[in-house]
Amino acid sequence: MAKYTVVTMPGDGIGKLVMPEALRLLKAVGFDAQYIHADIGWECWRNKGNALPESTVELLEKYKLGLFGAITSKPKKEAEAELAPALRGQGYSYFSPIVTMRQRFNLDTCIRPCISFPDNPLNFIRKRVAGVFEEQEFEEPFVNVVIFRQNTEGLYAGVEWTDPPEQVRSALATHPKFKPFAGTPGADLAVSVRIITRKAAHKIAQAAFEWAKKFGYKSVTICEKPNVLRETSGMMEEEAKAVAKEYPEIALWSTNIDAQTMWLTKNPENYGVIVASNLFGDVISDAFAGLVGGLGFAASGNIGDQVAVFEPTHGSAPKYADLNPPIVNPIAMFLAAVMLLEHVGEIEKAKFMRDAIAKVVLDGEVRTYDMMRIPGGSDAIARGAASTTEMTDAVLASIGKMAKPELVGASR
Ligand code: NAI
Ligand code: MG
Repeated sequence: MAKYTVVTMPGDGIGKLVMPEALRLLKAVGFDAQYIHADIGWECWRNKGNALPESTVELLEKYKLGLFGAITSKPKKEAEAELAPALRGQGYSYFSPIVTMRQRFNLDTCIRPCISFPDNPLNFIRKRVAGVFEEQEFEEPFVNVVIFRQNTEGLYAGVEWTDPPEQVRSALATHPKFKPFAGTPGADLAVSVRIITRKAAHKIAQAAFEWAKKFGYKSVTICEKPNVLRETSGMMEEEAKAVAKEYPEIALWSTNIDAQTMWLTKNPENYGVIVASNLFGDVISDAFAGLVGGLGFAASGNIGDQVAVFEPTHGSAPKYADLNPPIVNPIAMFLAAVMLLEHVGEIEKAKFMRDAIAKVVLDGEVRTYDMMRIPGGSDAIARGAASTTEMTDAVLASIGKMAKPELVGASR
């Protein structure tokens, strides 16, 4: 029997293309796992009125470990129009299966590493100051940042209204700062509640510091806006400070989300682990991902006390889903698999897989269209881009060259 069981949820579009590529690599590094397919996404919505079927929830409950590709989601009206005729008008409404999954299993810790691969043509570079470093006009700062995003609360908790009910309005009216809005007609008033609990604030800060300690980061930055959002960002910062006391060897820095988005393109190499609430974590992780290659290189882990699910950040990219051969970059999906390996403690296999990817990026001979900065499309291959499978083949070859018998034994 295999040591691990992974629930694989390819989902829609390019999710279906990149998932099998990641499984080839996991096999090649000798990960001792069996894979159980589970449905998720648009077809499930159309045919069952539920993008996250109960059977998938049960598999995750049972096996606790998931690898997810990507899903397609569409606005409310379009979603309803595509529902199977027999299901229409029966009160089904579309919910994002990822958000549902996070809430259902309380996957409250989202980890998003943004670590540059040397010589990735998509890396952020900056101009050197003339006369200071003469030898090269540009420099490429090494970005090694891991974002810890609180995944279940904050502005994504979903407590929101247009035309809030009377009890909510009157509760809001007890706050002196609500006065300027009190006369706004209900239909013209939208309210989203930013909920932060001390428990979750503490937990995400703790997770960030633990990661910093485990992987040798020198600082944890709490990225919020406590000077304005005094209560919610205030609580996030307070808990980060409380947790920091338990880690005297790691510095706690505090930045505001707006300033952070500026500093990260000035001095990205200054940051290590960053912790933030849901929306700010989402923003800052996309911003950092842009410095290290963008959607073809961004992955995340959604981690709860029981269940953990790993995924590339990108969506289903429908316009590339049917190209043959496929052209999308599978590296984001590979990096999700690397995170899964780290999560279950297969640190050496994870490093092995990441090193193999790094080698291919460094060699620069095999590049998907995004890495060449050319438009994606049916002619990308003719213009010299590698296909999705060629990228996997290159990483597999790189694994083969680096092969340590004890790591690849299981696949041979
Ligand atoms: P997307 O991430 O699917 O694609 C945006 C663009 O990024 C693509 O057109 C392509 O140019 C590029 N891209 C994405 N992944 C790539 C890869 N692996 N290699 C190379 N290039 C890549 O986002 P978009 O177009 O906004 O959404 C498409 C669908 O995906 C929508 O239905 C959306 O709701 C859904 N979505 C799902 C997500 C998820 O499953 N986690 C996340 C984001 C969007
Ligand atoms: Mg996002």
